[in-house]
Amino acid sequence: MNHELIIVLDFGGQYNQLIARRVRDMGVYCEVIPYTASAESLKARNPKGIIFTGGPKSVNSDGAPFCDVEIFRMDTPILGICYGMQAMAKLLGGEVSRAETREYGLTRVKYGESQLFEGVNTDNTCWMSHGDHVSALPEGFTAIASTDATKLAAMQNEARGLYAVQFHPEVNHTNQGDLILRNFLFGICKCGGDWKMSSFAKEAVASAAAKIGDKKVICAMSGGVDSSVAAMMMHKAVGKRLTCIFVDHGLLRKGEGDEVERIFKKEFDVNLIRVNCEREFLGRLVGVTDPEQKRKIIGEEFIRTFERVAKEIGEVDFLVQGTIYPDVIESGTESADVIKSHHNVGGLPDVIDFREIIEPLRDLFKDEVRRVGMELGLPESLVMRQPFPGPGLAIRIIGDVTREKLEILREADWIMRDELEKSGLARELNQYFAVLTGARSVGVMGDERTYDHIIAVRAVTTSDFMTADWAKIPHDVLGRISGRMVNECKGVSRVVYDITSKPPSTIEWE
Ligand code: XMP
Repeated sequence: MNHELIIVLDFGGQYNQLIARRVRDMGVYCEVIPYTASAESLKARNPKGIIFTGGPKSVNSDGAPFCDVEIFRMDTPILGICYGMQAMAKLLGGEVSRAETREYGLTRVKYGESQLFEGVNTDNTCWMSHGDHVSALPEGFTAIASTDATKLAAMQNEARGLYAVQFHPEVNHTNQGDLILRNFLFGICKCGGDWKMSSFAKEAVASAAAKIGDKKVICAMSGGVDSSVAAMMMHKAVGKRLTCIFVDHGLLRKGEGDEVERIFKKEFDVNLIRVNCEREFLGRLVGVTDPEQKRKIIGEEFIRTFERVAKEIGEVDFLVQGTIYPDVIESGTESADVIKSHHNVGGLPDVIDFREIIEPLRDLFKDEVRRVGMELGLPESLVMRQPFPGPGLAIRIIGDVTREKLEILREADWIMRDELEKSGLARELNQYFAVLTGARSVGVMGDERTYDHIIAVRAVTTSDFMTADWAKIPHDVLGRISGRMVNECKGVSRVVYDITSKPPSTIEWE
């Protein structure tokens, strides 16, 4: 790899990959590396700049993470963000203390003179999330931004190329946060910005080919975008030495399994085995109502099925999985709590004997995965498809999963997709689906009283799926969706619209 590199030094903050993807969006290749990396190892990578991330700890607490102090002598520009600013201050002789007023969310800020803030409106807002602040600057530093509560909201030592901000420019990116990152990359680090996603795809294919050599690979496919892109990447790398096992658990949307089979087998001549095992999955889900339990069972059954089929193929060395970054973070990292255990990250049982797992998309966000998919030549209908959770419709049926409920939900989901596509809205929405709420309500059909299912309609707009806004679908479209669901799905008496954002809700109901 001979392109420019920015290193994001990870102190455990929840936005570390978001920083990385902003940098990649600006055309500079970027990698997230643990804070424990030695200055020597970073130097060997010859980065154009280093960004310190935020982190959940206080620099004054026991076991607070600190980086190798030699990093400051590398002569490489550094930008500290949040905890990264505090760590920089502390390591260089400044002071950090508990802030009297904790700032959270959009906060008024005044930016001062600095190359970092070139072109940025001086009277502005920034995005804050901190309990500590820098209370005394290290020697050689000056303050370059302030808020009402935080005098030292940013600092610099221009001569040494050291910059730091208490706020999160990567979160507030549309409101000149991007400009601040740009100033760091292009003004201070002097990056050229000519890296593209196509380079990632090419390099990832080449490095997978080199790693796999003449060995065999299998890939677990679930029917979603991520595992499809990962599979295609491996197909490009090793052709027929790849076998894809498409475990169709019967929890997919209408028509989806057939489409995946057609594209991979017919259009791309990929070695693909489709295993239809709805019966086994439903059998194991009888009476299970707890969402995490459903995920675990489906994850386990998926692996078990996969393992059974894999054994028939014989010895393989590598297993490819389509894990993407939000799966990793939401399943909990060393420093972040588990929100949902995504089944494609849960890990494989020890009984499976593979030499190594390859997760080529592990650092990417959804929209980046799509760009890779397009680069690899996958059809837009598949690549631009909205994300679909590994456990499928099972986590959109609140309560236990039965074949009858699945049929109702599959039809309702199809109606929703159909209406949104017809109205031209589908492209503007990032995810939309129906949920069988598990509640029943009284209705009247003809002259008869009914007591049937309530379907919830969920639609969100988001760019990274870490946060999302509920979509404002016009009432007439909602009306058509509701009318058709009640008329065409037997057993549905009422349709409601979910108007919560993420956070505090998640996108899926379970
Ligand atoms: P949440 O509900 O956590 O969803 O806001 C964020 C994104 O992740 C998808 N999702 C999953 N994907 N396995 C997956 O592969 C899962 O268990 C899972 N749960 C949620 C969800 O559809 C959304 O795009």
